[in-house]
Amino acid sequence: MVSFEIQTASKAYPICIGKQAAKKLPELLQGKFPGRKNLYLITDSHVSALHADSLIELLHHAGYDTLVHVVPSGEGAKSLACYEACMAKGFEHHIGRDGIILALGGGVIGDLAGFVAATYMRGIPFIQLPTTLLAHDSAVGGKVGINHPLGKNLIGAFYQPEAVIYDTTFLQTLSEREWRSGFAELIKHAFLSSEAFYDELRSEIKTIEDLKDHPKLGKWLEKGIKVKASIVTEDERESGSRAFLNLGHTLAHALEAAAGYGELTHGEAVAFGLFSDLYLSSKYSGLDMDLDRLHQWLVNLGYLSISSDVLDIDRLIPYMKLDKKNQNGKIATILLKNFGDPILSTFEEKEIRQDFAAFIKDYFAG
Ligand SMILES: NC(=O)c1ccc[n+]([C@@H]2O[C@H](COP(=O)([O-])OP(=O)(O)OC[C@H]3O[C@@H](n4cnc5c(N)ncnc54)[C@H](O)[C@@H]3O)[C@@H](O)[C@H]2O)c1
Repeated sequence: MVSFEIQTASKAYPICIGKQAAKKLPELLQGKFPGRKNLYLITDSHVSALHADSLIELLHHAGYDTLVHVVPSGEGAKSLACYEACMAKGFEHHIGRDGIILALGGGVIGDLAGFVAATYMRGIPFIQLPTTLLAHDSAVGGKVGINHPLGKNLIGAFYQPEAVIYDTTFLQTLSEREWRSGFAELIKHAFLSSEAFYDELRSEIKTIEDLKDHPKLGKWLEKGIKVKASIVTEDERESGSRAFLNLGHTLAHALEAAAGYGELTHGEAVAFGLFSDLYLSSKYSGLDMDLDRLHQWLVNLGYLSISSDVLDIDRLIPYMKLDKKNQNGKIATILLKNFGDPILSTFEEKEIRQDFAAFIKDYFAG
């Protein structure tokens, strides 16, 4: 088990990663919130069936009553309707300001339950219990929120958890598609870190199967989380460098919205967005990288197969125009000057259209 602390301007909190890390939860609750017994666990239908009972049992043995609310699994749960239902269940069962929310699930649950915690009676504490590979990213850093039909993550807050307890045994029940989804954010962290990290992932992981139970997985998750933590420490509320964590995400968010939420996994969209941002980086910000080799690796891993009707720039542009990073009417995206050296760049709509056409022609035509 690895434990370290993340320090942000608003809060410092521990991150514990490892097999059976969830067993630490009662001890953590007793230490941080002595005497507070009202737990409100929010999870999704899939995770509930697989992992909620053992956790509730563990908490019961430690003397905790846990109210449970189960939302449908998938991106659709990051909606105003599900948010409202989470609130209502808490009120109906008299969860007060002494309540503590437990977010058991992937990034959807972390974002939704975190936003419920941020706004429930003006804010109650919450603990992230991530269960997907992708959530090594989403559970850390305090961005919580839900989607609006007009765009992804448009409603939300910066609200840090009290702790992140990442029990990697939960990962064993993930589908191959969800391993693939989560690995895209780890690849992003490698690009934001160093060429050596990227080379290590590329040489050790040839197919998604190689990832499951890889002896270095825990080490890589720790590394990925630390890349994110160091940026969040510097810029908690995204007034500058935190936007770099959005590498690949301007296009990814547009792809997810254009496909219809839940059609593409977040990581499938991110992998495509990363490749596009690195293509732009080699053109505009001097990145020296073998793009063909990256393309082949991503294809071998099962990424980059997005249908041509989603890859329609007329459908993507309206979503890109709503990106929160945009400046003075220009569309912003993150480029790399080098591994670990990102910059924010802005483009006119016309430039985005031209570059996207060239990108599709170079790598996806025919
Ligand atoms: N807040 C942030 O900083 C941040 C960062 C990155 C992504 N995100 C958000 O995270 C979300 C994506 O997260 P995700 O990919 O974890 O999605 P998710 O939470 O929907 O989980 C993916 C699927 O895996 C299932 N699942 C979860 N844990 C499982 C387990 N252990 N075994 C079997 N199945 C399991 C879920 O039921 C779901 O069907 C997106 O909404 C994205 O916007 C947020």
